[in-house]
Amino acid sequence: MEFNKQTVVVTGAASGIGYAVAQAAARLGAQIVAFDRDAVALEAMRLDFERNNWVLIPVETDIGDQQSIRRAIAIDMAAITGVDLLVNSAGIVSRGLFEATTADDWERVLAVNLSGSFYCLQQMVPLLKAGVGRAVVNVASLAAKRVSYTGGVSYTAAKAGLLGLTRHAAFELASVGIRVNAVCPGPVWTAMTQRHISEDERQQVASMIPLGDWLSPDDVAQAILFLGSPAARMITGTTLDIDGGLSLVTGASFESYQRARQ
Ligand SMILES: NC(=O)c1ccc[n+]([C@@H]2O[C@H](COP(=O)([O-])OP(=O)(O)OC[C@H]3O[C@@H](n4cnc5c(N)ncnc54)[C@H](O)[C@@H]3O)[C@@H](O)[C@H]2O)c1
Repeated sequence: MEFNKQTVVVTGAASGIGYAVAQAAARLGAQIVAFDRDAVALEAMRLDFERNNWVLIPVETDIGDQQSIRRAIAIDMAAITGVDLLVNSAGIVSRGLFEATTADDWERVLAVNLSGSFYCLQQMVPLLKAGVGRAVVNVASLAAKRVSYTGGVSYTAAKAGLLGLTRHAAFELASVGIRVNAVCPGPVWTAMTQRHISEDERQQVASMIPLGDWLSPDDVAQAILFLGSPAARMITGTTLDIDGGLSLVTGASFESYQRARQ
């Protein structure tokens, strides 16, 4: 994968999947622009990148606020003339049951997980046009096609919306050579899931996954970099499931499936 001297912008870069994408691209020689709202985590990331001699521009930004995104692009990215890959990974969950979901929960989850990806992409189109890679990868979720286990209705709705955004942006932006794809990860062991899932639940979820384990952030990062690389030059508007086979599960266990055939 060719990212040497390229500029890769990652939102939600200071943790989990975003961090893994930033590290993997930096290892391949890219300069990383890291958007995150968590100043402490961004500082830890800066030190990690410095130790490894990787190039990082940390930008404290609230992806749920379009003015904050506008400022980050106009001020913090003022010296950048082109973006090769934008990865929209910033995301939050809210866990309330349907009837208990407040307007604040609903609006905040949609603002970060859906509207933030729209504003980042829309405002970065001129920079993407000026780049060589011209690729965007949105981090959706298996929840976009099914129902979220970790989050509530706002999360499922936001991620489903992100797939619509991906398709429509891919269709329009193909005319200027920008490719837009999405990944749909299954359960990934990151701060987001560690915060909410007990050890028992972790094992129970692992046992439901045909390949037998949770995904690591790097499992998702490698697929994102593939979609963002020239190897995927004719792939746009698609969704790649990265879920250890979880979406193949019908409800019956593999043991009962085998028994029925003996
Ligand atoms: N972990 C999973 O099982 C899983 C599964 C499918 C999809 N996803 C998606 O992957 C993406 C990354 O999640 P993760 O598991 O790495 O979570 P994480 O909590 O480890 O990382 C999310 C990062 O986004 C940042 N962030 C949150 N809100 C922000 C905001 N308003 N502005 C800027 N930064 C913000 C956080 O500070 C954090 O650094 C999310 O979009 C999530 O919905 C996660």
